[in-house]
Amino acid sequence: MPRTTKQSEALFRRSLDSLIEGGSSPSRGPANYSDYPLFMDRAEGAYIFDADGNRYLDWMMSYGALPLGHAHVEVVEAIQKAAAEGTHFASATEIEIEVAELLRKMIPGAERVRFANTGTEATMAAIRLARGFTGRPKFIKFEGQYHGWFDDFLANSHPHPTVSLGHRHDPIKIPDSSGLNRRALDDTIVVPWNDMPAVERAFETWGGQIAAVITEGIIANMGVIPPAPGYLKAVRQLTRQHATLLILDETVTGCRIAPGGCQEYFEVHADIVTLGKGLGAGLPVAAFVGQAEIMEALAWGGVLHYGTQNASRLGMHAARANLECLLRDDGAAFKHTWRIGEELCTGLRDIFQRTSTPAIVQNVGPMLQILFTEKPSIGDYREFCSFVDRDRYRRFALSLFDLGIYMTPSAALHSVASLAHSDEDVAYTLEAVEKVLSDVE
Ligand SMILES: Cc1ncc(COP(=O)(O)O)c(C=O)c1O
Repeated sequence: MPRTTKQSEALFRRSLDSLIEGGSSPSRGPANYSDYPLFMDRAEGAYIFDADGNRYLDWMMSYGALPLGHAHVEVVEAIQKAAAEGTHFASATEIEIEVAELLRKMIPGAERVRFANTGTEATMAAIRLARGFTGRPKFIKFEGQYHGWFDDFLANSHPHPTVSLGHRHDPIKIPDSSGLNRRALDDTIVVPWNDMPAVERAFETWGGQIAAVITEGIIANMGVIPPAPGYLKAVRQLTRQHATLLILDETVTGCRIAPGGCQEYFEVHADIVTLGKGLGAGLPVAAFVGQAEIMEALAWGGVLHYGTQNASRLGMHAARANLECLLRDDGAAFKHTWRIGEELCTGLRDIFQRTSTPAIVQNVGPMLQILFTEKPSIGDYREFCSFVDRDRYRRFALSLFDLGIYMTPSAALHSVASLAHSDEDVAYTLEAVEKVLSDVE
């Protein structure tokens, strides 16, 4: 029977009287989908079911929040038990220490831990901490990177026509939103990524005023763009020379690329690391971690970071179950997601080659994105804006929905492999991709 989404359509219409664009974030609304988003109802393992009862193999995994897949039994049990004893006390709790201790073991340089709820809160606090600790006002943010919706970060995070970007020596700062504090971006220095001379130029101009460089270890919000060999290490070295802090935003890559995230994988050491998404296994748990000397600036009277919901008891229990599963058997879960990711990418590349489809797959292990382009690779935001056919990708991803594959319809986002994905899921996905390719103009 052909797939129908009448319930989703009806729910979308109903939602318009009470919600904006059918939900609580524009990325979940029609902008990323077609006329209306799918309303999801329940999920299990690698599968998610919409309100019409259609089943989808889920490669989105809540924008990366679910490294173990949906409703992992140990996470569910931990949440159920914790909920019965009280969801949150907003007090000191032992479970908070336990999760912090796990993070200290996993993450290089994580001498101290502070919990927050979302990636945005963690990056926002990390920038304040860097400014407070160094006494300097400015920070470098790279083109095409997203660190959450805090005003100071909201420049050049969305794809734009190449003509509006300006020269790469002096990128035009393009605000991503109306309503920003008028001066919010004054101290934000926007620099092209994967371009060492560009960072050097910024330091020559602003050197003594730069509190921090904030970077994703792998660009995860402009498809998937890995760092050029040695790039992160070179940025690290330069920041050290200028007594500037390096903030590694591992909201996406933490709990995904390796237990120690991009720090471990690329052998680079940051001063502050931010985590979110995959930490709470679907509950809002985020953190920023770093050297004791820097983190101690958060002590009372120093750099302010509050939050009633910080380290919610429920979130901490979910995070502990999640981390224990991820770390078990010498990190077997990481090995599994890498294997599934690589298998999927190899299969996709093979299909694109055999069918002469102008598409490439960029990935680092379990994080991957299909990019419709004639180019052999996409190395930064500018190339993404100039050479990636985002409309074609969207049509392709939406066609996959009909075959029960749920991949993000946004070319700027990415897919992730989870512990719940199997070899059969990869085989089914490859079959479906081959089927839809001929329909995508
Ligand atoms: C790299 C990165 N940093 C920060 C954030 C913000 O996280 P959150 O949506 O939890 O606020 C995101 C969200 O997509 C992200 O991808």
